[in-house]
Amino acid sequence: MTLATPDKNLALDLVRVTEAGALAAARWAGRGDKYAADGAAVDAMRSTINDVAMDGIVVIGEGEKDKAPWLYNGEAVGNGTGFQSDIAVDPIDGTSLTANGRHGAISVIAVGERGSMFNPGPCVYMEKMAVGPAGRGAVDITASYTDNLKELAKRLGKEVSELGVVILERPRHEHIVEEVRSAGARILSITDGDVAGAIATAWPASGADILFGVGGTPEGVIAAAALKGLGGEIQGRLWPRNDSERNAAIAQGYDLTRVLTTDDLFAGDDGFFSMTAITDGEFLRGVRYFDFGAITHSMVVRTKSGTVRLIETIHRRDKSAGFTTFAL
Ligand code: FBP
Repeated sequence: MTLATPDKNLALDLVRVTEAGALAAARWAGRGDKYAADGAAVDAMRSTINDVAMDGIVVIGEGEKDKAPWLYNGEAVGNGTGFQSDIAVDPIDGTSLTANGRHGAISVIAVGERGSMFNPGPCVYMEKMAVGPAGRGAVDITASYTDNLKELAKRLGKEVSELGVVILERPRHEHIVEEVRSAGARILSITDGDVAGAIATAWPASGADILFGVGGTPEGVIAAAALKGLGGEIQGRLWPRNDSERNAAIAQGYDLTRVLTTDDLFAGDDGFFSMTAITDGEFLRGVRYFDFGAITHSMVVRTKSGTVRLIETIHRRDKSAGFTTFAL
């Protein structure tokens, strides 16, 4: 039987999928091969996702079928019963972080009702602004970075100089860095991984208050699912890289001036999000190996209830045979 809405908290099943991705990817940490890391994570997630009781369709995945053997856009996943859902999956957000043994790589999945996820079409990138629950409603992506920092500081009861601004280190962000510096805020620079960067704004201990900059549109949809559950907000605008992308987007009916809200990106009222750290991050520790196997740290969220669970899992090598289809 399939269901239009879930009958249980699927995040607790989905965590097995991101754990599998992270465990497989972590074996490649610092080994300089981001394709091998990604391939291992894809295989491991693909081998576990079909155990989840859902009738899922990948809408944000590894790309088109001819390029990706698994988790490609349009692939049916899950065991075919239960929740009729859309799936956004990123086996590794931070393939270079993983390959270079840097902090901040995660394995993520978001699940929402059928039709609940924004389809990025030809738009690889979008401009993003993300804040945590306390900043929700205080920011406006059409206003200047300076004005957003002032409004956010007012809302959070902080000085602008106390704000932590997450920005991906990219030449295209030089003007943002310049403006944020002259506004007097602090920059928390990341080299990759703006899903974790956006989520950090909703995690007070991270020191991040807002994320600015252009990153992947699929990553924006996944971050929207997480922030919806965490009570934060993301705003976006599609950001074509060149005229051919711009023309393709317009021809397909995309409005490039439209401000995409959290709900536009992820409309799911009863959605789920799971992330497992591959390498250490701001709020989750990466995979650690022990004589008995490995330990993973994950965060799972249900958008409807707003429940956030931090899950530490012990994976025992000697008992895993028959339960896992990937190497521990
Ligand atoms: P990958 O793991 O797929 O390489 O993505 C990492 C990432 O940093 C994303 O978090 C971000 O949205 C995107 O790349 C930015 O794209 P680019 O590296 O092309 O600027």
